Amino acid sequence: MAVHLETEDLTEPCFHGAPPIGPEPGSPSTVWITFEGIEGSGKSTQIARLADRLRRADIPTVVTREPGGTETGRKLRAILLRPSTKIHPMTELLLYAADRAEHLYQVVLPARERGEVVLCDRFLDATLAYQGYGRRLGTDRILELHRRSPLDRRPDRTLLFDLDPEIGLRRARDRNSEQGTDATEGRFEQELMDFHNRVRHGYLDLARGEPGRFRIVDAAPDADHVERAVLDELADLLPRLADTR
Ligand code: TMP
Repeated sequence: MAVHLETEDLTEPCFHGAPPIGPEPGSPSTVWITFEGIEGSGKSTQIARLADRLRRADIPTVVTREPGGTETGRKLRAILLRPSTKIHPMTELLLYAADRAEHLYQVVLPARERGEVVLCDRFLDATLAYQGYGRRLGTDRILELHRRSPLDRRPDRTLLFDLDPEIGLRRARDRNSEQGTDATEGRFEQELMDFHNRVRHGYLDLARGEPGRFRIVDAAPDADHVERAVLDELADLLPRLADTR
């Protein structure tokens, strides 16, 4: 016998206790910035420096990341980045999307509701670059998936830290062996150089396609030089940063 199940409206959160949806991107009360780039591009260092400046200027700031910005996300991150994980690229895409949905509900949207600055280490553009270009899934089905709430939200600004993958991977491997993280998070670092070049060019394509949102930062110079470029690229969005220079 056929069983008829009533379908929920999947455009809205359908579990109890979901935080309210925050203001639309670009709302004057909050600024959401994402940081993107290949492995070893130095974005985590720059996020930490920027967060420090914002907090010293008494600007409430949330620092978060994908994958792994929530408790569930940390479990997904362990699966996604463990070198022994063998999954189909489509499964990988859906796990990144699951991490993102939970991250939006639990972290990003509530922070925007509170009017805080959100600094997010990777977001949708990482999926487009790594799964779309790197894994060759293409961008159409990824964008299609991200038309549904809450995945349809977009940051106000995206800083792309652009770097030659030869340099980035060398930096990432040095850092991992210093921190001992290579055993658990090296899945993408094991990919061939060709993969990383596709990811880099994917990011540059995305940036060219949306010049209003993206800013490209040359990640090759030293961290102090890159930090000055970051501050320049955010001066219009966060005028109070000028006081911290
Ligand atoms: P991280 O160490 O900079 O946090 O990066 C985590 C890895 O996850 C990095 O290799 C890129 C990858 N990634 C994807 O492949 N797709 C995604 O959607 C995200 C957010 C990350």
